[in-house]
Amino acid sequence: MKREKLLPLLAISFALSGCDRHPSEATAPTASISPKQPMPAERWYASQQVARGGKLYQQFCAECHKPDASGTTNWQQLDAKGNYPPPPLNGTAHTWHHPLSALRRTVMFGGVRLGGTMPGFGDKLQPQQIDDILAWVQSNWSDEIYAVWYQRDQQARKTSTAQKKG
Ligand code: HEC
Repeated sequence: MKREKLLPLLAISFALSGCDRHPSEATAPTASISPKQPMPAERWYASQQVARGGKLYQQFCAECHKPDASGTTNWQQLDAKGNYPPPPLNGTAHTWHHPLSALRRTVMFGGVRLGGTMPGFGDKLQPQQIDDILAWVQSNWSDEIYAVWYQRDQQARKTSTAQKKG
């Protein structure tokens, strides 16, 4: 039952958040990186944010996603209760598929609304603190992963601006 409920909802959420592949096909993007891809010169966050976010991450997120953000090895496999385990946030899973706006929403509202189990943190964390945590999360990503994420994020920003205009 749980599986039937969760999978279509997750698929919708991936579609909405700019994921064009099914989660089970999503692996680290090494194979799809072309050497010509431009490297973004700078990350969007300052190093002070990473320092602040790292402390908050250990306080609020580490119990599930692990102190080093490595999450669960078999993150695509449902557990005994039919739930997805906490995925890695360190760039090895598919967190890099999601634009910043979607990552913020996940932390704010959690996964429960989509049939998952992650609690929302909107009542415990200020938007600035959520951004600090996401800065720390992304500081664990390689430049290659970040570059691919950056392009997807830029694309999502363009789409949402176009939608607002239209
Ligand atoms: C109680 C365990 C738990 C805690 C605490 C938790 N998470 Fe999660 N997180 C999960 C689970 C489980 C998922 C998979 C989706 C679901 O079931 O809701 C998830 C999914 C995510 C995702 C989506 C990952 C992806 O690749 O799409 C992000 C981002 C995330 N968590 C960030 C955080 C951050 C940041 C914090 C701390 C503020 C946090 N989580 C705290 C369990 C947790």
